[in-house]
Amino acid sequence: MKLSFHGHSVVKIETGGKNIIIDPFISGNKNTDLKVEDVRVDYILLTHGHNDHVGDTVEIAKKNNATVIATAELASWLSWQGINVHPMHIGGSYQFDFGIVKFTQAFHGSSVTNDKTQTIIYTGMPAGLLVKAEDKIMYHAGDTGLFSDMKMIGELNEIDIAFLPIGDNFTMGIEDAVIAAKWLNAKQVVPIHYNTFPVIQQNPHTFIEQLPKDIGKVLEIGDVIEI
Ligand code: NI
Ligand code: MN
Repeated sequence: MKLSFHGHSVVKIETGGKNIIIDPFISGNKNTDLKVEDVRVDYILLTHGHNDHVGDTVEIAKKNNATVIATAELASWLSWQGINVHPMHIGGSYQFDFGIVKFTQAFHGSSVTNDKTQTIIYTGMPAGLLVKAEDKIMYHAGDTGLFSDMKMIGELNEIDIAFLPIGDNFTMGIEDAVIAAKWLNAKQVVPIHYNTFPVIQQNPHTFIEQLPKDIGKVLEIGDVIEI
């Protein structure tokens, strides 16, 4: 499984000849190396409805004829815009042609906000994602606070790599993310969701230094990691 980090919570996965992107927040993301028009993917995986996660999903899905895998409410909202969706929900797994996706809980919100019309459409529960392929397991926590069932997720899954938010303010900060890493018992941990906005400014190395030796890995924008 080939993974790459593209700023904020954007992670690309290449496995079984398929390309998958998680939370493609590209236009409006000052910390990404991607260009919306250059993204080539078969699937888009979404953790929740917030603008800094859904991002450019509609345009990318249409251009690539990609399938969007999201929680049911968010999937419905996206399907009304004429894109292919595969609705799922927390606790559910499904075998796709690239591997298995399982939705886990996350403690956060999930909504689509339109500032122009001053409307908020709630899109159900936010989620985290487990992607199992090539005998490896990756966990993307989405946006979440620390929750003790991370222990259960870690017990039930031998996580090879976990992407955890560290930005604080909207999600876990460094202190709680260190506890999350311990509970998840992941072999490798990558910090995400920091430095994109002034309120989530963090030094990712401060996080890594508090993890057991060789577990934490700061990925620079565009870095690729093979597991
Ligand atoms: Ni969010
Ligand atoms: Mn977010």
